[in-house]
Amino acid sequence: MMATTERTLVLLKPDAVQRGLCGEIVSRFENKGLKIVGMKMIQITSALSKEHYAHLVSKPFYPDLERFITSAPVVAMVLEGKEAVEVVRTMCGPTNATKAPAGTIRGDLSNSTSRNVIHASDSKETAAKEVPRFFKDSELMKYDLSKEWLYAGDE
Ligand code: PPS
Repeated sequence: MMATTERTLVLLKPDAVQRGLCGEIVSRFENKGLKIVGMKMIQITSALSKEHYAHLVSKPFYPDLERFITSAPVVAMVLEGKEAVEVVRTMCGPTNATKAPAGTIRGDLSNSTSRNVIHASDSKETAAKEVPRFFKDSELMKYDLSKEWLYAGDE
């Protein structure tokens, strides 16, 4: 059966920017064959943090999460590809990086739950809200990336 092409939101968090890990992480997505359709560096504000992490504002760790996510720029990306939401989450590994398998982004680059280098949409429904939260339509690029070497015709 033909898999669906999806879009998902990724944030390379302040620790990834500060530790110089953005190139490494972006390379992993490019090497996987995912298409970058949006990419920019932004400074997350307190208001945007409260909107993005609305489901977490009442958690005891939220003050630290907001302090962290607003402390330095992040790189925001929209990635497109077959089943991109699940594929990207799998590549990230679990939130708690101490439990993230080697070979995943968090498993290889972090050992923390809070400084875990990357955020990725956790479902198609979440992605549908998160992509427009960070990108205007005009910031999402339309271009061809040859799929000839990535997928069979019926995939
Ligand atoms: S939860 O706790 O399962 O409802 O939340 P989850 O959707 O997995 O996302 C948690 C995000 O908050 C960040 N964070 C922490 N999580 C758990 N414990 C502590 N102490 C903590 N500090 C920060 C965590 O990195 C997740 O961020 P995102 O950007 O969603 O990956």
